[in-house]
Amino acid sequence: MTRSIERPSDIFNNEDSNTSDNLHFDSVLSTRLSRRNILRSGASAAATAMLGGAALTGCATDGAMTGAMAGSGEKMLGFSAVPKSLADAVSVPPGYKVDIIYALGDPILPGASAFKNDGTDADFDKRAGDHHDGMEWFGLSADGQPSRSSVERGLLAVNHEATTDEKLSSFFIHANGGKTSLPRPAAEVDKEVALHGISVVEIRKTGTQWAYVKDSAFNRRLTPLSDIEIAGPARGHAQLITKYSPTGTKTRGTINNCGTGITPWGSFLTGEENWAGYFNRSSLDDAIRDNDKSVTALKRYGRPQGAPSRHGWETAGVADQYERWNNSVTGTSKDGRDDYRNEMNGQGYVVEVDAYDKTKLAKKRSALGRYAHESAVFSRAMAGQPLAVYMGDDSRNEYIYKYVSNAKWDAADANPSHRMAAGDKYLDSGRMYVAKFNSNGTGEWIELSMDNPAIKSFKGYAFADQADICINTRLAADAVGATKMDRPEWCSVNPKNGEVYYSLTNNSNRSANPSGSSQLLPDSANPRAYTDMKNGKAQNGNPNGHILRLKEGSGGAAATSLTWDVYLFGAEAGADARQINLSNLTNDQDLSSPDGLWFSPHTGICWIQTDDGAYTDQTNCMMLAALPGQVGDGQQVTLNYAAANGNLAVNTQVGKAPTSETLKRFLVGPSGCEITGACETPDGRALFINIQHPGETTQQANLADPAKYTSQWPANAGYGAGKRPRSATIVITKADGGRIGS
Ligand code: FEO
Ligand code: CA
Ligand code: CA
Repeated sequence: MTRSIERPSDIFNNEDSNTSDNLHFDSVLSTRLSRRNILRSGASAAATAMLGGAALTGCATDGAMTGAMAGSGEKMLGFSAVPKSLADAVSVPPGYKVDIIYALGDPILPGASAFKNDGTDADFDKRAGDHHDGMEWFGLSADGQPSRSSVERGLLAVNHEATTDEKLSSFFIHANGGKTSLPRPAAEVDKEVALHGISVVEIRKTGTQWAYVKDSAFNRRLTPLSDIEIAGPARGHAQLITKYSPTGTKTRGTINNCGTGITPWGSFLTGEENWAGYFNRSSLDDAIRDNDKSVTALKRYGRPQGAPSRHGWETAGVADQYERWNNSVTGTSKDGRDDYRNEMNGQGYVVEVDAYDKTKLAKKRSALGRYAHESAVFSRAMAGQPLAVYMGDDSRNEYIYKYVSNAKWDAADANPSHRMAAGDKYLDSGRMYVAKFNSNGTGEWIELSMDNPAIKSFKGYAFADQADICINTRLAADAVGATKMDRPEWCSVNPKNGEVYYSLTNNSNRSANPSGSSQLLPDSANPRAYTDMKNGKAQNGNPNGHILRLKEGSGGAAATSLTWDVYLFGAEAGADARQINLSNLTNDQDLSSPDGLWFSPHTGICWIQTDDGAYTDQTNCMMLAALPGQVGDGQQVTLNYAAANGNLAVNTQVGKAPTSETLKRFLVGPSGCEITGACETPDGRALFINIQHPGETTQQANLADPAKYTSQWPANAGYGAGKRPRSATIVITKADGGRIGS
């Protein structure tokens, strides 16, 4: 739920609070060069060993995946491209089948009745939550043990990001649409809170038919009320002290879970994204805090004093579970043990969950930083080398990050006896870096550490210790002059060569003639600023987004230098090929606002999913299949802009344009949805995808008349009761039993 165009709840999804005056890349070029030279001369034995390891794995080869990984007689991207569509249905190529298997409200735990889908259902902590998002597969053997080879039984760990809302209330889940003014009724708030979080649900194949298992003992929900541990440097820190956890070691729940990840040891990672919008701050809070540094931090995370909460949950009563959404000083303690002034510091992390074991508490891995997290994706695990975790911060003008573990990968940890203990080993101790991209196709990872003078002496915020950096990562990245990006969404690692792909979904705040503090000039890594028309209305900035990819320098996962290019520019097929449609997309390929991005480790296909508001006059959101090349396979291109003080020339690196053999639209979703989440069985023959918020564009005033809903999916596809649209998981299979994408 991220679109930046025509979304009523935009303010909660696209916070733009980066007012740092980071130097532009050109002005820091000389500093960078001297630093890189030092790093280069220091790169030695470790780098050589890394390269040797890569060669031995047989992964670091070039060339198209088509022949390398496809089975005999099977051609990847052999399907017929799916046309753009405004139909209220899921469209896939001929020969493919779509089944709906798990939708909002489906009962998964004892005590939940069949879902009526008329707004009277309750007990959402025992049902599938709303807004299915990132998702991972965890295989189970026939006797219910974790299995990496099972293709007929497994668990899906599913993020439930948010809820469809207009004016405070989450209207489809209330019989009459809910109360759209404050205070909010507790009964409505209880439902809305419970449908956030994650679910773990067992699915099985019987014959050729997949279905979820209603009574599985593995089924589990985590909601914003579940007990969760703080792990890593921030554990026990003064900034984590709350009434709920005076020791600062726990927090309550996880919220706005968007992208996901899967660890090399088989646990689930879920990223907390637009959590800040759920909290309220009183209009007098700055003075009550004596304008101390917490005020700076709160502003940087999009909560200036007086900021209203998205749903008004804090108004539902005096009970602690409602009060906690008020992130204001209300108590008299010095440290916050009698109120929720620090509550937001417990949200914004990558959370690790053992999907196989519901008795294990989830842990927030604070070493990976706190921001609007999307996916968390590992470098290829190499024995004896550290693990990198790639991540992004999805707000306008935010940054790209990586974490590098101190522990070196031990292949024995691929099947650990305690998965959460393996998480403690690799995810609680390491180094955080932020990316800076230079105009010549190079870049660097800058360490976020108290040893970095730019952070230690930062005038914008007085960092106390490494935990302070983990909690206030955005401010640390400001301090070191990281590159502000066009909203980093998912990332993924190409299994073929280890290169890292990042969706940069769109950014309305790019302009050749910027105004105000939040608008930026186009730069090399975010080079487009143009106007796209939708229904006669101008959409400015980078409305269609792009996909950037990077290649680590010597040192592999631990490298501090990189090279990059733009793999793909989103655009309409008919748009100007010199300034906008730089990837020469055809009608079978054109897309806007890439968001979900996932390389199948089994077929090597890069699946690209959209969450768009710019091209939706002509097509619903979609998923495409790609077989990309590699960093540097294209050319440098110069974009020219008419700026106030003359021509502005921006050099960028454009990847080799895709062909009809290397990029094709595979799926188009129903009306008003986004396509997100992707995982598959290890034979590549069943692909699971999420359809999020179909019908989101429905007006709350039209709730009583299903004919006026902008979508009736999945009911119109034969799934479930009622006509209210529901987020849902689908499974895609091929009639001939082949692999998905062939
Ligand atoms: Fe929830 Fe940035 O997508
Ligand atoms: Ca358009
Ligand atoms: Ca997303």
